[in-house]
Amino acid sequence: MNTTATPSVFGAVHLGYLVIETNRFADWRRFGTDAIGMHHDTLSRDLMRFRIDDHECRFLLQRGPAEDVVTLGWHIDDHESFEQIEARIRAHGVPCSAGTAEEAALRGVERFLRFPGPKGITQEIYTTPLKSAEPLKMLTSSFVTGDAGMGHVAITSTKPTHLRGFFHTVFDARLTDYIEETISGVKLKIRFLRVNERHHSIAIAAVRGLPIDPVRTRVQHLNVQAESLDDLARSYERVYELGFEMALSVGQHTNDKELSYYAVTPSGFEWETGWNPIVVDESTWEPSTHQGISIWGHKPVGQTIVDKLDQFRLGARSLVHPEKTVPALSGAGIPDD
Ligand SMILES: [Fe+2]
Repeated sequence: MNTTATPSVFGAVHLGYLVIETNRFADWRRFGTDAIGMHHDTLSRDLMRFRIDDHECRFLLQRGPAEDVVTLGWHIDDHESFEQIEARIRAHGVPCSAGTAEEAALRGVERFLRFPGPKGITQEIYTTPLKSAEPLKMLTSSFVTGDAGMGHVAITSTKPTHLRGFFHTVFDARLTDYIEETISGVKLKIRFLRVNERHHSIAIAAVRGLPIDPVRTRVQHLNVQAESLDDLARSYERVYELGFEMALSVGQHTNDKELSYYAVTPSGFEWETGWNPIVVDESTWEPSTHQGISIWGHKPVGQTIVDKLDQFRLGARSLVHPEKTVPALSGAGIPDD
């Protein structure tokens, strides 16, 4: 199927919620509310949620051993785009099934469809989020969501062109830009993809020329955008004061110019809180390549040689266990370098 011949859904797709599987509920509650400053709702012993705006759910945490982001939920603006995406998935022979009413209620949506995604990250799409009338109780004044979605996720991959193809095939994702960076002597190339005005909703980091993935979790980091610089600074201070691990100090990215810091979540993947990224103007944007992830700052905090050795041990393991992909949706014919 030639997806370029069908109407584009670009701009109608927004990162809407994430499902995290963890057994560390007490730590996550403290991290999410007292450090990051989000609204918290406990649903049961095995389920809790965080809100950052009027949507009932932006983060669903369910008890389980993965200690990882297991699902990305994508808010689709209209039924036409939703059906377009569903038709593409089915046309490629990829299974696609409706979530149960109970699962939809947990995610704070009317109904949703589920299909497999790269690296074993389940993808879900929905059109109608449920809004909460309950006022937010948050330490952060507000987060930027809306047309730009709730933030972004970054994924390390040994098959970056497959991931780029997947998001192009399913959501008409566009390449925003590239960053080349060397970390601990390893050369990385990062592809930044957008599905709306947010500079990127997905970042894909790959070790250049080597099929090595140095990260244990499916998602290396997720990002939320604080409304004000004051919110960013105060949450940075709270992460430190409460004793949560910091991965990268405050800094500014070269490409989207976002000011941010990276904390380590109780599950081990990283959490970027950012402020003031640029918004893409489709009429003038041209992809480019930036050298290095940061203009200033983003210095590693407390990473030891043991951590680095551990990363290479995991990297070696990724040679033995090939990365899961969804070949049928991984997009033949997508131009890449
Ligand atoms: Fe990021």
